[in-house]
Amino acid sequence: MIKRERGEIELARRARFTSVSPTVAMAQAADARRQRGLEVIDLTIGEPDQPTPRHIVAAAECALRKGWTRYTSAAGLGELRAAVARRYNDDHALALDPDETMICCGGKHALYLVCQAILDRGDEVIVPSPHWPSFEQAVRLAGARPVIVRAEERKSFHVSARMIARAIGTRTRAVILNSPANPTSAVIAEEELLAIARVARRRRLVVLYDDAYARLIYGKTESAPYRRLRETLGERLVILGTASKTYCMTGWRIGWVLGSRSIVAACVALASHSTQCPTTFAQVGAIQALAGPQAQVHQMAKEYLRRRDAVLPALRAIPGVECVEPEGGFYLFPNVKAYVGARPGATVDFARLLLDRIGVGVVPGEAFGAPGHLRISFARPTAETLEGVSRMKTLLRQLGAS
Ligand SMILES: Cc1ncc(COP(=O)(O)O)c(C=O)c1O
Repeated sequence: MIKRERGEIELARRARFTSVSPTVAMAQAADARRQRGLEVIDLTIGEPDQPTPRHIVAAAECALRKGWTRYTSAAGLGELRAAVARRYNDDHALALDPDETMICCGGKHALYLVCQAILDRGDEVIVPSPHWPSFEQAVRLAGARPVIVRAEERKSFHVSARMIARAIGTRTRAVILNSPANPTSAVIAEEELLAIARVARRRRLVVLYDDAYARLIYGKTESAPYRRLRETLGERLVILGTASKTYCMTGWRIGWVLGSRSIVAACVALASHSTQCPTTFAQVGAIQALAGPQAQVHQMAKEYLRRRDAVLPALRAIPGVECVEPEGGFYLFPNVKAYVGARPGATVDFARLLLDRIGVGVVPGEAFGAPGHLRISFARPTAETLEGVSRMKTLLRQLGAS
């Protein structure tokens, strides 16, 4: 909660009860340490360490030189909307009309817009947990109530149709799915996803499907069965996508909403009164990302798999630390309860200790509704992540298991 100093203007309720995302806050703490000239192994980071591929940068540079510096339509450049639609069609045989797509300022913005577009005060939204903090906050900012349902660690944090069905009440409007998930890196299996879709159709829920990490999957499942989901859910399926992770474009702020004409039109209207449009030359770069060669995406996924396979055993070798194998994305989510316990706040203190004593930045599980866990990003060079894990091991040994 944001505190007001004496004499300061009173903030609106929604602002008072919203604070900077805890993942961002921890990254800021690591950054502050770096600014003081101290060394940091920053494993808080939720973004690829590679630069944006050159052909994408070149397209945006060229656009700037050619004067692509004006507003675009609030729905985004037509060519980019078409490129997004073509990508989903080529990759997933999902046919989308242009007015079922809109371009916005990143996946976070897509989530925010859709929540504003479909939720009213008193509505409830099911959020499987451990969960990305913005899911909960975007629901709250729309005046609705997140209903947190826990995925069990002993079931590798897999989200099931049963756990969703049990949480549905008379006010439930939507369910948020995220696969691979941040922070657990769990992937929802195809049959389970379809079972969730059937439940959602029966109970007339909207499924908000966040596919930010969808191109980084390491197991048998290649991608979500979008076409079959759409067949089951029709207009009740909304895909929230982003160029951030797939194309190493986190700072470009390009995302998209794919859904029914009415939901997309509402998002466009909301954007037209707030951001207007994502940066025009960034949109031109994104056309190259989506329509251009995809080889770098596959190489990146292979590289992350190598990193996962190097770091996971080192983490599991720490006595008392358990860690579910990431099935996608680039996060490890070890359980350190043997050392810090499960008291809410204990892992926040521990993460601070890690940063202050040994210069290792990680995000405490409290940020994701899961005290006793740490989120460790392996979107860093392997040697650096391994050094971070090794320092953590030394510190844990000194602390001893509780
Ligand atoms: C699950 C999930 N969805 C969406 C995003 C949004 O990314 P962006 O706003 O950069 O597109 C993130 C970023 O960390 C994420 O973890």
